[in-house]
Amino acid sequence: MDFAWTQVSRGRADKKSPARHPTFITSSSDNFPRARTLVMRRSDRKNNEIEFHTDTTSSKMFLLQEDPRAGIHIWLPKVQLQIQMNVVVEVKVGDITTPNWRDVPTNSRVAYGTTPSPGTVIPSPLAYDHAPDQKRFAVLVCHIQSIELLLLADKHIRAQYKKITNWRGEWLSP
Ligand SMILES: Cc1cc2nc3c(=O)[nH]c(=O)nc-3n(C[C@H](O)[C@H](O)[C@H](O)COP(=O)(O)O)c2cc1C
Repeated sequence: MDFAWTQVSRGRADKKSPARHPTFITSSSDNFPRARTLVMRRSDRKNNEIEFHTDTTSSKMFLLQEDPRAGIHIWLPKVQLQIQMNVVVEVKVGDITTPNWRDVPTNSRVAYGTTPSPGTVIPSPLAYDHAPDQKRFAVLVCHIQSIELLLLADKHIRAQYKKITNWRGEWLSP
């Protein structure tokens, strides 16, 4: 588990680490799970949290309103480690996000304020505009409920850790 958290923390610190770009999976009312890449903005082992930022009008926001549970997937080829997490997502919008918004570089802020909203059908590839808008900025605080690790060593090693069992590890058959 220490090794996995070291890798997760590197995702924040090291722009080249694949842990910087986890896959974030939500369930949806049509029962097709939806997966997308997000940049990991913060990880906090003490509180078992990881954090992402998104546009308030993106479809994941609506999906999370319906069901705040999400899956996270990270594959780290250099160390041959797969990390899977179950998380419950707390969505923060409005004034509470001001400290986070201040830390978003000016040129990155355009990601929050695309018109029309992300996912809207447009008549041509560049028929959109963007103006940074803090009202369109959401912080997704993911409260980790469980972590599963699969290490592809000479012999594969798989383990799970759950919050409800105080993160006591259990080995799983790979
Ligand atoms: C490398 C990469 C990083 C991305 N980072 C983010 C991000 O941090 N936040 C975000 O909302 N979308 C990010 N995206 C775009 C999402 O993958 C996705 O297309 C977008 O959020 C709309 O998703 P949704 O319609 O499922 O809500 C990123 C895409 C790529 C390829």
